[in-house]
Amino acid sequence: MIAALILTSTDGLVIFMRGDLERVLFDQPAIHRRLDDIAAQISNDYRERELTVIAVLHGSLMFVADLLRRIPLPLKLECLSVASYHGKAQTSGEVAFNLTTASPSGGGQIVLPEVADRDVLILDDILDSGHTLAAIREMLGTAEPKSIRVCVLLSKKKRRAREVHADYVGFEIEDEFVVGYGLDFRGRYRNLPYIGVLRSELLEQPER
Ligand code: IMP
Ligand code: MG
Repeated sequence: MIAALILTSTDGLVIFMRGDLERVLFDQPAIHRRLDDIAAQISNDYRERELTVIAVLHGSLMFVADLLRRIPLPLKLECLSVASYHGKAQTSGEVAFNLTTASPSGGGQIVLPEVADRDVLILDDILDSGHTLAAIREMLGTAEPKSIRVCVLLSKKKRRAREVHADYVGFEIEDEFVVGYGLDFRGRYRNLPYIGVLRSELLEQPER
């Protein structure tokens, strides 16, 4: 009875996932306070301009939703779907864009978001090896935007395979595998309302 109660309540599920974490790095109030700062900075930097925000899915979902509601500027939102991890804790180095047209008449062609002559701000969850953001920057750059900046919630302190300058960074973290607040391991933990370090032995377990 008690177990059933725990597992059917939202708090219970969060406690359940909490057990998979080595430690919590940033709780919800800390994340929200930092978002207030970044949003104020972005709002100031882009005043009297119209932003085109490119959200890199899925990891940036929570970040984008919470950050954009703090930016009182006219803006457009486009989403990109990208995969580079393929279920592992290390990036494969290959960045796969999911950019096909939704309608069958589009013929499944690659379609870039509309960025020509726009002030583009790329939002991603985390800067790790740099492969993903370098590839996105390069790809969007071919469409000749007026400007491109990068904003990430987290940046790992490490030597990157590809150097990427992030103009706005929420938090710098050590080179550890983190989950929660949109960040996943094999698709799980995105709904944790805070960010924590995943227990390292879970990274080694076979996929279930
Ligand atoms: P990069 O291409 O190595 O910079 O990795 C970028 C992507 O890998 C991020 O957008 C995340 O989706 C994922 N990633 C990198 N580090 C972590 C992590 O610690 N936890 C969860 N996902 C991560
Ligand atoms: Mg991501």
